[in-house]
Amino acid sequence: MWQIYERLKPITLDPNATLSQAMTANNVTGSGVTFFLNPDGRLVGILTDGDLRRAFLSSAALDDRCSAWFNRTFVAGRIDAPRSDNLALMSEKIFHLPLLDAEGRLIDFITWKDMWHVPLVTPSLSGNELSYVQDCIATGWVSSQGAYIGKFETAVGEFLTARHALSTANGTLALQLALQALDIGPGDEVIVPNFTFGASANAVMQRGAKPIFADVDPETWTLDPAATEALLTPRTKAIMPVHIYGHPCDMDPLMDIARRHQLRVVEDCAEALGAAYKGRPVGTIGDIGCFSFFANKIITTGEGGMVTTNDPALADRLKVIRDHGMRPERRYWHVEAGTNCRMTNLQAAVGLAQMERIATFLDWRDGLASRYDAGLEDIPGIRRHVGQSWARKVCWLYTIAVDPQVYGMDRDALLAHLKTRGIEGRPVFAPLHIQPAYPGCGTGAYPVSERLGAHGLSLPTGNDTPLIEVMRVVQAIRELAAPA
Ligand SMILES: Cc1ncc(COP(=O)(O)O)c(C=O)c1O
Repeated sequence: MWQIYERLKPITLDPNATLSQAMTANNVTGSGVTFFLNPDGRLVGILTDGDLRRAFLSSAALDDRCSAWFNRTFVAGRIDAPRSDNLALMSEKIFHLPLLDAEGRLIDFITWKDMWHVPLVTPSLSGNELSYVQDCIATGWVSSQGAYIGKFETAVGEFLTARHALSTANGTLALQLALQALDIGPGDEVIVPNFTFGASANAVMQRGAKPIFADVDPETWTLDPAATEALLTPRTKAIMPVHIYGHPCDMDPLMDIARRHQLRVVEDCAEALGAAYKGRPVGTIGDIGCFSFFANKIITTGEGGMVTTNDPALADRLKVIRDHGMRPERRYWHVEAGTNCRMTNLQAAVGLAQMERIATFLDWRDGLASRYDAGLEDIPGIRRHVGQSWARKVCWLYTIAVDPQVYGMDRDALLAHLKTRGIEGRPVFAPLHIQPAYPGCGTGAYPVSERLGAHGLSLPTGNDTPLIEVMRVVQAIRELAAPA
């Protein structure tokens, strides 16, 4: 059973309310609309400011019942419909759209502001997410031992063709768990790309080891093999290729370096579920792959992560560390100082429902990417992040780099302009070697990550981003472009 959102409470009234009560409610919320609900929460009428005005102009008494005036033949959307379908119901006449459940109960509403605003990402949770979570609540399996954990892990493992997939509380802890299982700790160095989210480096530091930053390739924006090799020292224990913005790293040369120098490989796949290198899914190439299911990722579990491996001994060790360092066959007996980074059944329930739609999500994102590509390719000074021929790139956040000399504006001016058009953009990650958290970790040269950090930005990309909104974004970017 859906609950009426908190924000709806002040603007819902009983059909027997008077016009004066409706006016007071509208005055309090400033929303310009009042919804009238039956005792069971079913929407029976809508009264807008305009309807109120018309009622008074026709000299209705203030204690007139609203039911005499409200609109009973309203247009309504469905709470479980894609955002794009609901937005399509809005028009110059309808700028408050109620969202109903299957029984006609009012759950939420959207306004013209939602039409105007293009968010960077909104998760799509309109599949079985709610019913699976309700099942957890109804059965009481809310911690990390319910049936959804195994089902979710199996779904991800099968999707990736990984022999072992183990869920974690988030992607950062997945990385820490992987590093611990590979015995990386104080005194060790791990090569990390200079262009990544800080969590990649933080996980290394949390293990007491030192991240050493290597520059990235100008085409893929991922770890540059030559830069990696140049930074190896006798203390280097591992390499962490990050499949940034959904583009797989060039894994063959990196795996070759690892083999020649006996290094372990932890793939950071947080942004790249579904990406593949020469046909092999990311997360199955190195020793361990680590995924994130934060709300802006390809799939979400709210917060959540996964470690994947094909090595049964490593899988065994990962399970022990994830569960306080206890072996499953002997409780309260700690074979090493482990931790608790388990996922809950509630999160896994959401994850399973998301995995049921992963193919649709990836297709949708491909559709967004091809529309962005077609719309942006001829704008001078806009560089796209193009997938290499050997890559199955997934469109995590559609990201571009702006050449201010050619485009005529810099990245920050473009972001500010997009904001005035209601479009949410985001700068890319700043290079790590200049950040205060990582003293002494940047001993190389970083021309590519410095350039990307200064000029890169991401555009709205979500499992629910309407395709039509891509055209609005492209149009806004075109408005600023220097005349050809
Ligand atoms: C490249 C990269 N690594 C690691 C993480 C950490 O994942 P989480 O936010 O689930 O801890 C993220 C995501 O935020 C990421 O983008």
